[in-house]
Amino acid sequence: MTVKIFDTTLRDGEQSPGVSLNAEEKLRIARQLAKLNVDVIEAGFPVASQGDFQAVQKIAREVEGPIIAALARTNFEDIDRAWEAIKDSSNPRIHTFIATSPIHMEFKLKKSPAEVLENAVKAVKRAKGYTEDVEFSAEDASRSERDFLCKIFQAVIEAGATTINIPDTVGYATPGEFGELVGYVCENVSNIDQAEVSVHCHNDLGMGVANSIAAVENGATQVECAVNGIGERAGNAALEEIALALNTRHDYYNQKTALNLQEIYRTSRLVSQLTGMDIQFNKAVVGKNAFAHEAGIHQDGVIKERTTYEIMDAKTIGLKENRIVMGKHSGRHAFRDRLAEMGYDLDREELNHCFKRFKELADRKGELTGLDLEAIVEDQFGQSPELLQLKLLQVVTGNGISTATVHMLKEGEKMLESVCSEGGPIDAAYEAINRVAGLDCRLDIFKIDAITGGKDALGNVTVKVEHEEELFLGRGVSTDIIKASAVAYNNALNKIMAAKSRKGR
Ligand code: KIV
Ligand code: ZN
Repeated sequence: MTVKIFDTTLRDGEQSPGVSLNAEEKLRIARQLAKLNVDVIEAGFPVASQGDFQAVQKIAREVEGPIIAALARTNFEDIDRAWEAIKDSSNPRIHTFIATSPIHMEFKLKKSPAEVLENAVKAVKRAKGYTEDVEFSAEDASRSERDFLCKIFQAVIEAGATTINIPDTVGYATPGEFGELVGYVCENVSNIDQAEVSVHCHNDLGMGVANSIAAVENGATQVECAVNGIGERAGNAALEEIALALNTRHDYYNQKTALNLQEIYRTSRLVSQLTGMDIQFNKAVVGKNAFAHEAGIHQDGVIKERTTYEIMDAKTIGLKENRIVMGKHSGRHAFRDRLAEMGYDLDREELNHCFKRFKELADRKGELTGLDLEAIVEDQFGQSPELLQLKLLQVVTGNGISTATVHMLKEGEKMLESVCSEGGPIDAAYEAINRVAGLDCRLDIFKIDAITGGKDALGNVTVKVEHEEELFLGRGVSTDIIKASAVAYNNALNKIMAAKSRKGR
């Protein structure tokens, strides 16, 4: 049996507090999800904003393979907008939802169950007028009355829904109870054989994955999940955990997915980098420690026979060992081939740029790991068109006083600023860049980590900068952490300027 994977990283995942992806970033993630071979990509909620609409449209037009779904409430404006965004996809799906629990119907919707049912049926019929593939979700299903839930599912299937979704919206269910609910729906909706049965579990009690798998054991044929488990509040069920649980315990569940598991690790890193959401070290499957062994007895066991302490092979998820891959004598072809092996397909200009940085770094460090290469390439992809170019940065610091001088090009015009600060070298550099940029913004998050060990490690700086209540992510990578910090900040400001010029302001 095969379980369908409906990925909602770009919709529910993007609703994670502090996450905001631009259309280009969403497209990169969608392309990677297609490589991972998910069955459905929920690309966004088109009515939510013009930006969301454009991103969904871009994905629908450019990403082939998976079904591209767009979310809509049951009102016609939402459904029409969702269709407008996905109509150019070769596999479009409209996903419409309304809450069915007494608490949501009474306090949020202020609608009777009969009205909710009527809205749901009308919405599905409207969507069906556009596309064959329509999904209906009963929001807060796990706190809904079972018989009403069955009644509404029966009615929407009659109206043409091809997938019905049972969300545990607030992460309240327990595995036994949720599995039983799914079994009940499968037993008591007489036309259920005409629809795919989906579940969508949140992780408020840390049971999102367990609930999803219990659902599969009881008849669910599709699971909705997000890479790294990101999403509203405590997030959604983690895609990689569901995939590896079904794969590793195939003997028990007798279920598989169509996923290309080799792409799991890369997808996880890409989502983490573009969203700026770190993966906890001990996170199952993709955490830094997931394949690390600390105790001597364990290390000894793994050396003698890997399976003594490892139930999964790191190679299954595409996690190559952190071994030395290239040195300063490596040539351009070897560099390109290694990147291709890592799944990067660069155009000539991107390759030139990355190769130059690789050479500079290899000269300094001697030997580079896969993670170093990944950082160089991701840094290159992350740089938006440079309206603001940092040409030179010089910082002098000591005794609590720092002076930063920047030479920059702002939309082609040369500018120079020097700032003296008691706040440290990064503060001085940021203030100098601010003076050139002339934007009203606030540094919300600043994060630095070393990509590999050693004192010559690359420093990876991630910042989130707030401008007009929107957050913009910036990244910078360099062995010089002040430079990496300035590049990350400049990267975020460039994104702000690009967004402003798109909006014509
Ligand atoms: O959590 C939820 O109920 C949702 C629905 C829109 C499927 O995200
Ligand atoms: Zn959700």
